[in-house]
Amino acid sequence: MTVHIGAKPGEIAETVLMPGDPLRAEWAAQTFLDDAVCVNRVRGMLGYTGTWKGHRVTIQGSGMGMPSLSIYANELLRDYGAKTLIRIGSCGAMQERIAIRDVIIAMTATTLSTPSRGIFRELNYAPCADYALLEAAVAAARTRDVGVHVGGIYSSDVFYDERPDLNDQMVRHGILGVEMEAAELYILAARHGARALAVLTVSDHLLTHEALPSDQRERSFGDMVEIALEAAFA
Ligand code: HPA
Repeated sequence: MTVHIGAKPGEIAETVLMPGDPLRAEWAAQTFLDDAVCVNRVRGMLGYTGTWKGHRVTIQGSGMGMPSLSIYANELLRDYGAKTLIRIGSCGAMQERIAIRDVIIAMTATTLSTPSRGIFRELNYAPCADYALLEAAVAAARTRDVGVHVGGIYSSDVFYDERPDLNDQMVRHGILGVEMEAAELYILAARHGARALAVLTVSDHLLTHEALPSDQRERSFGDMVEIALEAAFA
């Protein structure tokens, strides 16, 4: 047990999928894992461990934003020995060619700041995905009937953004989408010698203002979970 995760030693797998939403962790575990057991309920941040094609997997909610994700990722890496962390979540698209329901695989994550900002001081560290995971996720995504985009994303600290000019600069510099967690995940994995990746479903579009209807979310999120699982065990 850690401060925020109630699992006993050995109850967390080396491979952990991390959706922001704990109810999506429950849904993904019930839909894709065999013999899924709930291993965390602390603060309602549900975590499940089961197997996928015989491989042990944990699906643990991260909460929204980098400070929340940082708590769970730190405890998974430091205390439970997690070796592969894959964020599965939603993002807002920032390029015209990207459509709602498309999948974005994040090579890098630009930020204004992260919970790790203090240790880097004047340095602008470049959070980047594990290449083998990225390559395997791209290969898995290409076998599916889903649009796939690979490149840089923006990990923002705010959903209700009072600085639209920052988004304009992200769009101008080719950033594919915006979410709120990947950069800190990449930094923590690097610090602990682990692998990390973010596989994201486009739920809304910052340029066209379209949004994924709620009745279509499940199917699209399912593609993302399977891409993450195939990448983890490629
Ligand atoms: N902003 C930040 N995070 C997000 C968004 C967004 O528009 N959409 C999904 N996650």
